[in-house]
Amino acid sequence: MPETPYRREPGYAQRYRDQRFAAGSGSGHGTDRRERAALRELLRLAPTTSGAWLDAPSGAGRMSAELPGPVVQVDRDAAMLRASPMPSPRVCGSVHALPFADGCFAGTLCHRLLQHIPTAVERIDILRELARVTCGPIVVSFFDATSLQHLRRRLRRLFGKPRSGRSAVARWAFLAELRQAGLPPVAVRGLRRCVADQTLVLCLPRHPAAGRH
Ligand SMILES: C[S@@+](CC[C@H](N)C(=O)[O-])C[C@H]1O[C@@H](n2cnc3c(N)ncnc32)[C@H](O)[C@@H]1O
Repeated sequence: MPETPYRREPGYAQRYRDQRFAAGSGSGHGTDRRERAALRELLRLAPTTSGAWLDAPSGAGRMSAELPGPVVQVDRDAAMLRASPMPSPRVCGSVHALPFADGCFAGTLCHRLLQHIPTAVERIDILRELARVTCGPIVVSFFDATSLQHLRRRLRRLFGKPRSGRSAVARWAFLAELRQAGLPPVAVRGLRRCVADQTLVLCLPRHPAAGRH
């Protein structure tokens, strides 16, 4: 399947790490705080597992330290991986074809990727691949179409502003995509319901390797 490109200008990785979510970055700092709170809350609801967690895509590793246990970071952009301050193992590769054995991770985080993926077919392909390599909880984020932020994006498009390249999907539709990928959702946390588009979902896959760890 052709992958949706994610091209960024030189220097983007350092800016993403140091500025995008920093204090004084406008709404970025508050978003970062709320994302971490939502992720922690979902991880508290997840069953305890032992073994390595996968952070894919990790970007510059912003959320990796929130994960329980050792972390393997994966991203398609080598510059992002180089920008990560964490001493975790890093693998440059695509979430469509992860170079790992079935069920080898105790848990997986897929944070801030799916809003860049415009079609359900491609999202499901990625979700299936995450399910394949994970035998424990999986947390994924998506942009909820029922939000003021998404409405603002649509209005901007309507008035001829350049497209942001981000796609939002109705919550019920995304939960159906998760089920189709073999990832039954068990809890959902929006950052600010109906205002913010960013939403995190905890899934507990029924993987044949579940319980191995
Ligand atoms: C917005 S960043 C999110 C990073 C991190 N999870 C966070 O929350 O800060 C999105 C990342 O997805 C990566 N990416 C995009 N498509 C990918 C793919 N098919 N496989 C692996 N990484 C991908 C990009 O290189 C980028 O680093």
